[in-house]
Amino acid sequence: MEFSELVRRRGMVRRFKDRPVEHEKLLKILANAVRAPSAGHLQPWEFVVVKDGDVKRRLAEAALKQMFIADAPVVIVTCADTERSASRYGDRGRGFYSIIDAAYASLLILLTARDLGLGACFVGAYRDDEVSRILALPRHVRPIGIIPIGYPDERPPMYERLPLEQLVHLNRYGNRVGLGGL
Ligand SMILES: Cc1cc2nc3c(=O)[nH]c(=O)nc-3n(C[C@H](O)[C@H](O)[C@H](O)COP(=O)(O)O)c2cc1C
Repeated sequence: MEFSELVRRRGMVRRFKDRPVEHEKLLKILANAVRAPSAGHLQPWEFVVVKDGDVKRRLAEAALKQMFIADAPVVIVTCADTERSASRYGDRGRGFYSIIDAAYASLLILLTARDLGLGACFVGAYRDDEVSRILALPRHVRPIGIIPIGYPDERPPMYERLPLEQLVHLNRYGNRVGLGGL
């Protein structure tokens, strides 16, 4: 699929077929995830791949009972090793760069899944401390997204976006000149 079409046609998938994800596809997703940019090239991301049914169920519970997480054959929890970024950038690395970097990696997971004919959903609503306990994360490793992945059993709705005209400013905030004026 051409890149812009891939971007346009990605949507969060929350229903999955009872079909495993091939090992090569899982590896491709992870290999693409680490191509994300990162502040200072510190690559603070870590990935917990969850296939165990009980762990998936506990994650779904911790994610405010979003039980579709447990229905996916594989779940990747993207994490940020905040100290890896803090080692060079202090608080800015810990509280800002490491999170952004892991979010970029997560977006590549979503796009690669779509490119491989899979579906995925970024889940950010969960109790951090519970997820950390379930996955035995060290204190400095923060969960950034729970991403269930599998073959889609639905065509996700393609949500409209806010009109670009409303969102783009020329030279200073508030100066909306319309797209033709850029
Ligand atoms: C930071 C963040 C947190 C999100 N948390 C959840 C979530 O907990 N559960 C869920 O089903 N979707 C979650 N989403 C997905 C959004 O609902 C979705 O991206 C948005 O509705 C637009 O739909 P689309 O991505 O399919 O175009 C989250 C997305 C982001 C970026």
